[in-house]
Amino acid sequence: MKAAIFPGSFDPVTNGHLDVIKRAAKLFDRLVVLVAINENKNALFTMDEKKFLLKEACSSAGLKNVEVSGFEGLLVDAVKNFGASVIIRGLRALSDFEFEFQMALMNRELDETCETIFLMPSPEYSFTSSRMIKEIAKYGGDISAFVPSAVIDALKRKKY
Ligand code: PNS
Repeated sequence: MKAAIFPGSFDPVTNGHLDVIKRAAKLFDRLVVLVAINENKNALFTMDEKKFLLKEACSSAGLKNVEVSGFEGLLVDAVKNFGASVIIRGLRALSDFEFEFQMALMNRELDETCETIFLMPSPEYSFTSSRMIKEIAKYGGDISAFVPSAVIDALKRKKY
């Protein structure tokens, strides 16, 4: 049984993340979406909220082999604890590449069994980011094309 980990901040999950989750879920028997504990105090959503929104999005999409969990500490340790050796990361544009390349090589340096696989989301999501979505929602813009429906409601409830 081949398992992979899709780690991230998911503050909040976007349709771009969901697109990568769907692609990875087709390639692996088991996919664990892992929410990183926030060292960034500016995160809008709590760990529980992020996990809830991811679970809602995955179950609405009918994804049966996807689990959602959280982690603190080194990603390579979490990958091992979940019985996986593959990290999935999404690449939207060339601008993502440098950071992702460094992170993939550093993770493999920390654990030589840990490989990173990059998946490109559909081009319609190449400019979607959680940061921009929060900003658009804050000023009353329409975010319905960019996030799962549970996220629209969750952003409406947030006062920020
Ligand atoms: O969605 P993001 O913010 O791009 O995700 C980044 C994340 C959480 C995957 C990355 O910061 C991470 O793996 N953090 C855990 C700490 C760690 O292992 N750092 C070394 C990676 S080189």
